[in-house]
Amino acid sequence: MKTHMNIRVLLLALSIVGISLLHYLTPLHLHYLHDIFQRLYYLPIILAAIWFGLRGGLTCSLAVSVAYAPHILFQWGGELTLEMEKYLEIVLYNIVGAVTGLLAQRERERSIELQKTAEGLEQSYKKLQEQSEQLIEIEKNLRSAEKLSTLGEMAAVLAHEIRNPLGSIRGTAEILKDDYRPGDAKYEFIDIQIRETERLNRVVEDFLRMARPLPTETVRCRVQAELETVVMLVSNDARERGVTLVLDTPSTDVVVNGNGEKLRQAFLNIAINSLQATPAGGRLTISTVLSRVDEAAAMCEIKFCDTGKGIDRESLPRIFEPFYTTKPDGTGLGLAITRKIIEGHGGTLNVESLVGLGTTVLVRLPVLPTEENL
Ligand SMILES: Nc1ncnc2c1ncn2[C@@H]1O[C@H](COP(=O)(O)OP(=O)(O)OP(=O)(O)O)[C@@H](O)[C@H]1O
Ligand SMILES: [Mg+2]
Repeated sequence: MKTHMNIRVLLLALSIVGISLLHYLTPLHLHYLHDIFQRLYYLPIILAAIWFGLRGGLTCSLAVSVAYAPHILFQWGGELTLEMEKYLEIVLYNIVGAVTGLLAQRERERSIELQKTAEGLEQSYKKLQEQSEQLIEIEKNLRSAEKLSTLGEMAAVLAHEIRNPLGSIRGTAEILKDDYRPGDAKYEFIDIQIRETERLNRVVEDFLRMARPLPTETVRCRVQAELETVVMLVSNDARERGVTLVLDTPSTDVVVNGNGEKLRQAFLNIAINSLQATPAGGRLTISTVLSRVDEAAAMCEIKFCDTGKGIDRESLPRIFEPFYTTKPDGTGLGLAITRKIIEGHGGTLNVESLVGLGTTVLVRLPVLPTEENL
């Protein structure tokens, strides 16, 4: 850009010097040639005005005036009345430089403004395009959510219908089992049949529990008491696995409005997952803290922190999906049900994990504004 400008300045300077030399070196009796040279000066003046605007045009016309004036004064005699036409030409040089410069400058400013408007328009167009793409995406999601909810309702009906024949299969299998002794191949087969039926029944029950809406009636629940029950329920499992179980809760009661049984089930699902993921020698710490949101509201944060195998980045967003499991005998409904319960209580459920180091599940529940809580 800078070299481009320098070349233009050099070109203008050379043309002024060249035309001036033609004036100074051409004998005066060839006045028709002088007339031509006189007009040639307009070339650099107009070019300077177009290239550099008002300042460029005026600077060039002044430079031409300075270069041309000694030629009138010393070679033509400088008589004002005789050389009037030449003096007027100098005035004209400056007028042309100024006017052309001004016009070129205005034109340039206008084209910059137009360019800015065009850019603005392009940006608005892009924004509009993005928004319309978003709208299409939202519409697509809505459609698939609609389909999913219909599918969910159908699946719930189906699950309900499966439970009854399952009960009959199990019952008859148990009757058949009585005819054989342990060790008999058929006894083992029927045992497998019963176990698999039970597993199927568990899947269906879990599924129905998830599809069923949460009961609206809620009572005051003590978070610590629910957690103590959960710890008691899993302590045996933890001991067998060689995992240390620690419960760290505040001494004052944290009370939430909710369904104790459901909350217990949610906490139990999380604790079982942690125990299943933690190898012997590991640790599961369940802790509770009360965090104030503002003057009138507080949240209870319940953290399940394990030193298990962790969850990789690709799997983390999928763990809440129904039927997502990495366990051979898992149903993949545990966390889906847990999230439904927690969100049904106005809370949130978040999971952070580092592969090889462990997983932290954070449950946040709004607490009742009791004196102890606030
Ligand atoms: N604490 C954890 N550490 C490592 N992985 C976990 C943890 N909690 C959940 N996961 C992963 O998330 C998946 C889904 O968990 P979820 O509880 O929904 O189903 P599941 O435990 O596989 O089966 P189930 O229905 O019997 O609970 C698990 O299979 C496991 O891969
Ligand atoms: Mg689970």
